[in-house]
Amino acid sequence: MEKILVLDFGGQYDLLIARRVRELGVFAEITPYNKIDIEEIKAKKYKGIIFTGGPNSVYDEKSPHYDPEILNIGIPILGICYGHQLLAYMAGGEIKSAGNISEYGKTEVNIKPVSLFDGIPGKSICWMSHTDYVSNIPAGFENIASTLNCPCAAMADRQRNIYGVQFHPEVTHTEYGKTVLHNFLFGICGCSGDWKMDDFIEKTVADCKAKLKGKKVLCALSGGVDSSVAAVLMHRAVGDNLVCVFVDHGLLRKNEGDDVEHIFREKFNIKLVRVNAENRFLSKLSGITDPEKKRRIIGEEFIRVFEEESRSLGKIDYLVQGTIYPDVVESGKGDASTIKSHHNVGGLPSVIDFEGIVEPLRELFKDEVRAVGLKLGLPEYLVMRQPFPGPGLAVRIIGEITKEKADTLREADAIFREELEKAGVFPSQYFAVLTNTQSVGVMGDARTYGHTVALRAVTTDDFMTADWTRIPFDVLEAASRRITNEVKSINRIVYDITSKPPATVEWE
Ligand code: XMP
Repeated sequence: MEKILVLDFGGQYDLLIARRVRELGVFAEITPYNKIDIEEIKAKKYKGIIFTGGPNSVYDEKSPHYDPEILNIGIPILGICYGHQLLAYMAGGEIKSAGNISEYGKTEVNIKPVSLFDGIPGKSICWMSHTDYVSNIPAGFENIASTLNCPCAAMADRQRNIYGVQFHPEVTHTEYGKTVLHNFLFGICGCSGDWKMDDFIEKTVADCKAKLKGKKVLCALSGGVDSSVAAVLMHRAVGDNLVCVFVDHGLLRKNEGDDVEHIFREKFNIKLVRVNAENRFLSKLSGITDPEKKRRIIGEEFIRVFEEESRSLGKIDYLVQGTIYPDVVESGKGDASTIKSHHNVGGLPSVIDFEGIVEPLRELFKDEVRAVGLKLGLPEYLVMRQPFPGPGLAVRIIGEITKEKADTLREADAIFREELEKAGVFPSQYFAVLTNTQSVGVMGDARTYGHTVALRAVTTDDFMTADWTRIPFDVLEAASRRITNEVKSINRIVYDITSKPPATVEWE
């Protein structure tokens, strides 16, 4: 399979670059610049290399550099932003700081007709984000683009197939960004575009069949997209040697537990153990109001239950985990800034004695996981569904959790989701929150003192930042009317109009 190396110099767009490359049908893998040397790059036979952006200036002492010999190994290179400046620096050019005139945002760029820009008009809009610029183009390179404030917005060494662009072709604000990447991959690197989901399924199933022959495999199924796709994929490979354990902690959305059971047992004939552990979880959570404590309790209890169940299944050789590529890249970076400790159902193996772990999705982005899920025949509503946090409704019931509150929230949440879906409005994530505020209302002639429910809907690409979704008022109105009519004890609905930051998506 053809591969492109995304050599990461610390920019924020490394995942986006790799995703764009894969969208164009070429497999891309991200590796930090200090985790791979030239010998390994050569051995891995990459078709091309993309240098990412980075936060630094090339003259900073701490700035990331790379062995300039990489320019001479015959593999085409595209440098983006800092990557472009680094290429210029490595090849003997000069970089200058524009002082306080940073170029940021949409900018008009003038280009020369070179192969990197095939099919792109002489003037177009690109996305810039830089202070430094290439002030002296290195020998062997020619200037192939400029903007008002950036004399060298792109450069090319056509002999060695080395290109640099100051702008960001990976972001959608760059009008012809996709064309630039396409030209690099297909025109310059000579890729044919052999990254296809069908091949991925076939190859993964064949590999797992060979590796796991006669082995017993266990999968912790959460009902989320990743573990569901991993389970079905693994079932193709090992059939009845796979057992899925689904721990229902009683804090799932309405009907979710039954749906998961039905799909995996009836539709796919997968051996499934459903553990109904609602009482156990609720009693552990009783009286707990601190969000992080809730997460910890659920995480720990989950492991306990899972451990007990897997012991009762006899010897298990392998554990399947639904780890996906962004998890792998993020953990490789050792990014430890924790705002919320996200309980991941995957964090299990240290407590159970397995021969090994299988992570069939570890090379895939979320959209690729979804494509695989659809190809495997998982229902669209499950594959395309919004994320749902591991601790479930526990982090959407503010304050103490009780069964009555969980049931109340489940109903309100189901109605809100139903109304949005009926109206064809699909935010990135949308749900109801049971606030711990009660307020006075009036129903008929009687005074009520009921719960306040907050509705939350956000639009986002990556959940790192998010905007609140402008849901049409009539949809909000319908949801509000139905919830207050149909769910006893709720008499007030509010809509959350905070973005992230300063808020987070979840309320806890
Ligand atoms: P926040 O609230 O941090 O949410 O803005 C960003 C995304 O992460 C999800 N989330 C969680 N997922 N365990 C999870 O598995 C958690 O504890 C957790 N907390 C938040 C949230 O639903 C959103 O998609």
